[in-house]
Amino acid sequence: MHTAHAIEVVGAEKQFGVGPGAAWALRGADIRVPFGSITMLVGPSGCGKTTLLSIIAGLLRPTSGKVSVLDRDIFGMSDAAQVEFRRRNMGFIFQQYNLLPSLSAAENAAVGLLAAGVERREAVKRASESLKTLGLEQKLDSLPRTLSGGQQQRVAVARALVHEPRIVLCDEPTAALDGKSGRAVMEMMAQVAVREDRAVLIVTHDSRIFDFAHQIVHMEDGRITSVERRQEAALVA
Ligand SMILES: Nc1ncnc2c1ncn2[C@@H]1O[C@H](COP(=O)(O)OP(=O)(O)OP(=O)(O)O)[C@@H](O)[C@H]1O
Ligand SMILES: [Mg+2]
Repeated sequence: MHTAHAIEVVGAEKQFGVGPGAAWALRGADIRVPFGSITMLVGPSGCGKTTLLSIIAGLLRPTSGKVSVLDRDIFGMSDAAQVEFRRRNMGFIFQQYNLLPSLSAAENAAVGLLAAGVERREAVKRASESLKTLGLEQKLDSLPRTLSGGQQQRVAVARALVHEPRIVLCDEPTAALDGKSGRAVMEMMAQVAVREDRAVLIVTHDSRIFDFAHQIVHMEDGRITSVERRQEAALVA
């Protein structure tokens, strides 16, 4: 049906700038994310985690290396095909939440469903259910600027998961959250995103959520240094 890995990056290198000021953010990074699993990517500030995630998302082109997502060479596609592939298959939570300032919390969370063609009332209803699960039932109609950092973060989580994408990519999805909200986010992630044809990749410093990981990948200075298996990926086909 499909190969064993939802995401496979081999030998990714990324150079920012040229000449004496050039910096190598990635120096031959290899990472494999199995289907049916949550993989966490950890490492010191500046080691290249966000760069690697942005490359997997197709938002940043590597200087060299191979990147395949759901068995597709994402940098071999046309720009239009890549945009469509991303819309159809991926959910993102970035370090900045990128909420739309004039939309309510529920409307922001519904954006992925609307883009997928779901009718507006139905989309907002489903997004509202996700927000309630994340403890935001009082904030459905609030604008982002009236929400705390942790509340905005949970709206971004709901937005990334509500259309049930096959690949979920997150940069520090629980950084601004207390323990209880962080667990609610991870439980939703485990429920929505861990199926045999799906996978989750999370960049995190938050050791409180490590128990949700099937594998933890350690990164240093632009390279993967070790892979720690925590539990069998329950649903790998
Ligand atoms: N657009 C850019 N231009 C130049 N250098 C960059 C750019 N983006 C990242 N870098 C450099 O690449 C390296 C890796 O950055 P990256 O953002 O991937 O780190 P990170 O592991 O996500 O760190 P953090 O944990 O602080 O978020 C850093 O040295 C950074 O300064
Ligand atoms: Mg980062």
